[in-house]
Amino acid sequence: MKTFAMMNMKGGVGKTVTTIQLATILTNQYGKTVLVVDCDGQCNLSRFYAADYIDDMTVANVMERSCESYWKDNVQLVRPNLYLLPASRDLYRLDLAAMQNGNAHINALRNFVEVVAEDQEVDVVLFDCPPGFTAASTAALIAADELIIPILMDGFSIEGMAEMALQVESMRQVNPRLKVAGVLINQWHRCQAVEQGEKLLREMRLLPVFRQVIRRTDKVPESTFVKQPVMDYSYRSAASQDYRLLAQEIFGEVPDNGSL
Ligand SMILES: Nc1ncnc2c1ncn2[C@@H]1O[C@H](COP(=O)(O)OP(=O)(O)O)[C@@H](O)[C@H]1O
Ligand SMILES: [Mg+2]
Repeated sequence: MKTFAMMNMKGGVGKTVTTIQLATILTNQYGKTVLVVDCDGQCNLSRFYAADYIDDMTVANVMERSCESYWKDNVQLVRPNLYLLPASRDLYRLDLAAMQNGNAHINALRNFVEVVAEDQEVDVVLFDCPPGFTAASTAALIAADELIIPILMDGFSIEGMAEMALQVESMRQVNPRLKVAGVLINQWHRCQAVEQGEKLLREMRLLPVFRQVIRRTDKVPESTFVKQPVMDYSYRSAASQDYRLLAQEIFGEVPDNGSL
């Protein structure tokens, strides 16, 4: 089982959209079973898949161990072969508690994915993290093996890369397995600032950068209004094509037997 965390200290860079597109490609095109975990108290991912989940088990229950003992009783099947462990506002309460007493639940998501892995049903787990280090995002970084770091191409992001590399190093102190699958340039479009920024980023070699970029297209925000993955909303849009190529870059050509 592979485990990825979408991470960036900044918000609005495409963590949630990337989680949705990769989950869609893995389930619909690669025939995989995927678990998405919404670690963000804003609950964008949870509301995208399940508008009405208020009484269900959430990441906060898993973190506090007030969850069901069988992992599947805590998740929802939101699409064929796609499970969701939703977020809730309770995550903010956990952040407050962590500030006061330390993060007592730091290994909870690691323990949860280990149990999921034992059952051998789920092929890929995707953690959608909030911006910055919160109780849940820290737990996700301990649970994940690989990081996907979406960024927008501007001067602040380029300046922030050295800081990002340092942060990855400090995350490795709590999770030595953690490696960066790649920095993902999102909302790419043809303009001097973006192209120069991309060139600089690739030359810096601070962190690995995916070859594939994701182009900017209005189809992405449009698709969030109708709560459809952009792949379903507009299969031929630039972002859909780019995410398909990105999936190939991350998971490789998928052999006939379907193993990753
Ligand atoms: N390739 C893209 N082209 C155009 N807009 C995009 C693209 N990717 C993401 N967006 C938009 O950017 C905003 C932030 O994306 P989101 O995934 O919510 O970021 P994050 O989870 O990092 O906060 C959303 O409004 C989304 O529709
Ligand atoms: Mg998000």
